[in-house]
Amino acid sequence: MSKQFDVVVIGGGPGGYIAAIRAAQLGFSTACIDEWKNAKNGPAPGGTCTNVGCIPSKALLQSSEHFEHAGHAFAEHGINVKGLELNLGQMLARKDGVVKQNNEGILYLFKKNKVSFFHGRGSFVKGDAGGYEIKVAGATEETISAKHIVLATGSNARELPGAPFDEKLILSNTGALAIDAVPAKLGVIGAGVIGLEMGSVWRRLGAEVSVLEALPTFLGAVDEQIAKEAGKLFAKQGLKVSLGVKIGAITTGKNDVTVEYVDATGAAQKAVYDKLIVSIGRTPNTIGLNGEAVGLKLDERGFIAVDDDCKTNLPNVWAVGDVVRGPMLAHKAEEEGVAVAERIAGQHGHVNFNTIPWVIYTSPEIAWVGKTEQQLKADGVAYKAGTFPFLANGRARALGDTSGMVKFLADAKTDEILGVHIVGPMASELISEAVVAMEFRASAEDIARICHAHPSLSEATKEAALAVDKRSLNF
Ligand code: FAD
Ligand code: NAI
Repeated sequence: MSKQFDVVVIGGGPGGYIAAIRAAQLGFSTACIDEWKNAKNGPAPGGTCTNVGCIPSKALLQSSEHFEHAGHAFAEHGINVKGLELNLGQMLARKDGVVKQNNEGILYLFKKNKVSFFHGRGSFVKGDAGGYEIKVAGATEETISAKHIVLATGSNARELPGAPFDEKLILSNTGALAIDAVPAKLGVIGAGVIGLEMGSVWRRLGAEVSVLEALPTFLGAVDEQIAKEAGKLFAKQGLKVSLGVKIGAITTGKNDVTVEYVDATGAAQKAVYDKLIVSIGRTPNTIGLNGEAVGLKLDERGFIAVDDDCKTNLPNVWAVGDVVRGPMLAHKAEEEGVAVAERIAGQHGHVNFNTIPWVIYTSPEIAWVGKTEQQLKADGVAYKAGTFPFLANGRARALGDTSGMVKFLADAKTDEILGVHIVGPMASELISEAVVAMEFRASAEDIARICHAHPSLSEATKEAALAVDKRSLNF
């Protein structure tokens, strides 16, 4: 007799582990299966996000920023550092320690919420509306069953044809987070979120970083004004970004990688790097699920096909996170995980795709929610814009970090906030106010009338809201 649950979640990343916890909170007997292994072959739940994504990248971004500040910014504060040295081994070990704390945190949360955890690969055996049998292949093999299945199997880094990841010279995010000596020359293909974040880490630690991007515009999904400002700041830092390139042959030598490409002017180029990060997007991961056994439908791009409620084509089978349509973000996966658990319980799970924030954790950070100015123009929406530079913010001056701005876009008639865009210090934290405001359908005037602590970076948000009505007080 197989172990019987109400809900079995396959995948223990942010989508899956959060779905499992919420299902257990709602009173369902719940299991979560995850196959990620740590260096000792033990369980390492948390998925891409915890193991080779959000968490380790933010740990290295923090460490490398400290290093850069100690080398440059501290002097302005009257702190002279002599004999500054990089201990990359310690930096990587600290990052691994942060990952481990998060893995252990999730195992603790499973225990606390009485979620049964299975370490291994989960795959469909058979099933229908009455229930599904799932094989768990780990150190041992067993079969468990449940009425409801939640698929949260995540995504994998996309390879360039003819240039498979070897994680030594051609690196995915996994290798990019574990380079054991700072490369003199680092190539990055793809000026997206990973390219900019990982490029920043290794540039701060001393690498000469060149980013090759296929599109002719920099950060096309970001508000144009913000992307332009960010592009200028990154160039000043020494991050070289070439737009409009066409990548050709990539060949590896013993200790280097050669990339042939055609630049934006049409000229053939050849660049030799010590390491190459390929960050050109991610593909949904359905390998090993054996969805064929039950007739699980994928869409034309290989994602698990779901409706607006994350229902698949199979009764009582749901899918969330990177393996389904929508932005590949940890918090989007979590929101879907919670909503699915609540829908299983007969409640009205809710995910508002219009208010999902985006953050790029470069320095300065870039964060936004809602529509960009170019989207509003394309949609023919009449809008008002207000901006406020951090240069005019007292806290930013005290911090010594005055680059960037906050930008509000509001409906021309109703003043409802349609988008907020930030490039500047702590943009990742500042954006939350805008998300809350948009979730409550606030107007720019609502934010302008709220008392913000002084001195704080959040005053720049208030001032940008005031600027929508052309009445900034400090600029
Ligand atoms: P995943 O996190 O990929 O988890 C899926 C899990 O399922 C994995 O543990 C996998 O091993 C397991 N699995 C797959 N198939 C099976 C199976 N058959 N049986 C058992 N287990 C299985 N997002 C942000 O919001 N903020 C960030 O700062 C951020 N930084 C990132 C940095 C990098 C370098 C990368 C690569 C991504 C980053 N992301 C970030 C994106 C974020 O990591 C993903 O959106 C998020 O992890 C998706 O969660 P998920 O649960 O859908 O999938
Ligand atoms: P991405 O979609 O952000 O960027 C990929 C870039 O590569 C794009 O600019 C694209 O035009 C370019 N590109 C594609 N094919 C190319 C080619 N052949 N040659 C040159 N350039 C090419 O994808 P990325 O950076 O790989 O990250 C994957 C996803 O992970 C992100 O979309 C995001 O959802 C998530 N992520 C989120 C983070 C965050 O929230 N801070 C951090 C890192 C990743």
